[in-house]
Amino acid sequence: MDIFIDPDSTSGLANQIFEEIREGILDGRVGPGERLPSSRELAASLGVSRHTVTTAFQRLSAEGFIEGRRGGGTLVSDLSSLRAPGSPSEPILDRSGRDQGVAPALDLRPGTPDPRLFPTADWKRYARWAVDQHVATYGDPAGVADLRRVLSRWVARSRGVDASFRQLIVTSGAQQAFYLLIRACTEPGDVIAMEDPGYNRFRSMAEATGVEVVPIPVDSEGLVVDAIPPSVKLVHVTPSHQFPTGVTMSMARRLELLSMAHSRGALIVEDDYDSEFRYVDRPLEPLYRLDRSGSVAYVATFSKTLSPALRLGYVVVPLSLHEQVLEVRRQIDWAPSQVDQLTLRGYIADGHLESHLRRTRRVYMGRQHRMAAFLERAAAQGVLRPAASNAGLHISARLSPTLDEADIMTRLADRGVAIEGYAEYSSIRPAVGGLVFGFGLVDSEQLEEALRIVADVIGVDD
Ligand SMILES: Cc1ncc(COP(=O)(O)O)c(C=O)c1O
Repeated sequence: MDIFIDPDSTSGLANQIFEEIREGILDGRVGPGERLPSSRELAASLGVSRHTVTTAFQRLSAEGFIEGRRGGGTLVSDLSSLRAPGSPSEPILDRSGRDQGVAPALDLRPGTPDPRLFPTADWKRYARWAVDQHVATYGDPAGVADLRRVLSRWVARSRGVDASFRQLIVTSGAQQAFYLLIRACTEPGDVIAMEDPGYNRFRSMAEATGVEVVPIPVDSEGLVVDAIPPSVKLVHVTPSHQFPTGVTMSMARRLELLSMAHSRGALIVEDDYDSEFRYVDRPLEPLYRLDRSGSVAYVATFSKTLSPALRLGYVVVPLSLHEQVLEVRRQIDWAPSQVDQLTLRGYIADGHLESHLRRTRRVYMGRQHRMAAFLERAAAQGVLRPAASNAGLHISARLSPTLDEADIMTRLADRGVAIEGYAEYSSIRPAVGGLVFGFGLVDSEQLEEALRIVADVIGVDD
């Protein structure tokens, strides 16, 4: 079991160790009878004093989570009698990703951050505070004003997006922002464009609103702007880290896209879903910053930085569209839970998101480097052609033409490794297949095991 502590957190070290182990026991990552590392080992691996670990162990023991054994060793107790009636036996932040069902043993599917890294203790503190505010009205359909102020400062600092909080609307994740924008500026039958391969959930949701979704190819510079039909009303694009290929859109293409949108009166929906995880260079600035004609809506989410379970994101809307978007908002769910919005507000305003990102970036960077080294080796052996990717929670790779994507995925699934392929994200059938290697859900040990199986299945000497 991996334990993560944040030396910058205001929640003491012993408390963090207590919470991490307690969560691990409650969500079944460590089972009854399993042995915990000794206080000496754990103190050494976490870089804290032994006294700190002993304090955490004493509390776990007092609350019945662990028990000492004669002859040494600390074991996890059998909790079946301790669980509160009706308490979930499955973790709420479950590691099966988006889909319901049994989690595969080794999950290389992209898109979900590691629930083991969720800042449970801090989040609980702010959630408790938020509940105490006794909010009892529908509130503002754009979202809690205080949160929007905090978010407008956050997006200015982290991404250089300079926007008044009045332009910002809090949404239930990026997906809802896409929905609001489509409904606000299209009619059924209108043409909208998206990258191919691209974010499949955008396509299925857009089609459900009655618009025609035209797939636009992606090359080494990103979206091929020339291929966008003249009648387009809205373009969905992931310029900073194309999903799923990982390509960064070139400056020439950015300018071309902005000029196309301006001349045709189309809206660009900039999906900046994972720029917070950048491991080498600085990310290119968002399209939003280059836009001089109010053609870009900038969408961000907390699904990667914190958890998709929160369903929280936001959109910076061109002022000309603001009222139309809010009108759709009022027609559907009004606004996300104010308790959750207030929790997020406190968490970011007190600087926790920044320290959480520092901590998680380090963890993901280790996994990203390991994954990249494996893919380079596979490339040197002519088996895969990985995309240059220095960001996010996945790396994509084209398969050599001799390998069949569906066959590889089935063989991996038979050995307990879940992964996604390009076919899932494409409506234009790709000439060669590809795999999307996510590393959000596997800890370093699981990653090693998964890569051993992948190497075996695709024939790579790692
Ligand atoms: C490219 C891309 N955009 C948007 C999203 C949606 O995020 P949310 O959970 O905020 O709806 C995802 C989620 O996986 C994604 O991969």
